[in-house]
Amino acid sequence: MRVSLAGKRAIITGASQGIGRGVFEVFAQLGVRCVTAARRKNILEEHSKEVIAMGGIAPVPIEVDLFEAGAASYLFEQAQGALGGVDILVNAAGRSKAPDAPRQTPFHHPSELWEKELHLNYVVLRELTFAVLPSMQARKFGRVINVTGKSEPEKLSTANPPKAAVHAWSKGLSRSIAPDGVTINQISPGKIVSEQILANYSAQELEAYGKKDIPLGRLGTPQELGYLAAFLASPEAGYITGAVIPVDGGMKRYAF
Ligand SMILES: NC(=O)c1ccc[n+]([C@@H]2O[C@H](COP(=O)([O-])OP(=O)(O)OC[C@H]3O[C@@H](n4cnc5c(N)ncnc54)[C@H](OP(=O)(O)O)[C@@H]3O)[C@@H](O)[C@H]2O)c1
Repeated sequence: MRVSLAGKRAIITGASQGIGRGVFEVFAQLGVRCVTAARRKNILEEHSKEVIAMGGIAPVPIEVDLFEAGAASYLFEQAQGALGGVDILVNAAGRSKAPDAPRQTPFHHPSELWEKELHLNYVVLRELTFAVLPSMQARKFGRVINVTGKSEPEKLSTANPPKAAVHAWSKGLSRSIAPDGVTINQISPGKIVSEQILANYSAQELEAYGKKDIPLGRLGTPQELGYLAAFLASPEAGYITGAVIPVDGGMKRYAF
């Protein structure tokens, strides 16, 4: 089987690091024309050169701070102008090394910091999705892929509510957009090597974690998640929508 992605046009948020970056690497090798978005444009540009040198399709890096008002429509308009349309949206932006988002959220964490997490991981993701949807529906093809998280919280964390919100919201949305050939799915990472993970855990912690908590014995790579994103983005995955699919080395404990 092959995935027919050559010539498709994608926006990938969070593309300067970690999972978004890995998704971009896989997409570029498969011939997808990508807008890569993040705040650190210098990293996007450097990485573009590496991917082009490896035979990947040149992306269009766009600097955007998704916390800024109007960021979603700005990014969509930039992508529309650069690519002439958007077939695929991958929402992979997340909070990187934020000092106000500790690994374990304290009980009395300020309300505005809970909302900040919700804003980036759900509100902006939703706004961007609604920006791209009308043209996807008109063309009778579209793919939205949200990088979320596992639904088995082990501790209090600001990261969990936005992921649950995305899962519930997208399930409802999937039913409305299915007749137009547009799918929306979630990839739920277990522990994938990324800037965020490397900032929060020492190398020894990660090795021990892999051995103890991940049946496959190690953390995943961003590209390993990117392969599933590529399949979900392809026409061949047209019968999959409203799903939450883990890429976690077997880490999820429960069958349902
Ligand atoms: N890695 C894992 O094991 C894991 C596990 C569960 C869930 N997740 C989820 O997966 C997603 C990606 O995580 P990751 O591990 O790949 O994180 P990461 O390595 O820290 O990358 C985060 C990306 O988001 C971008 N970003 C952050 N704030 C932004 C803003 N205000 N505006 C625009 N871009 C912004 C960053 O780019 P700039 O800093 O350049 O803007 C970076 O490219 C997150 O939602 C995370 O919660 C990851």
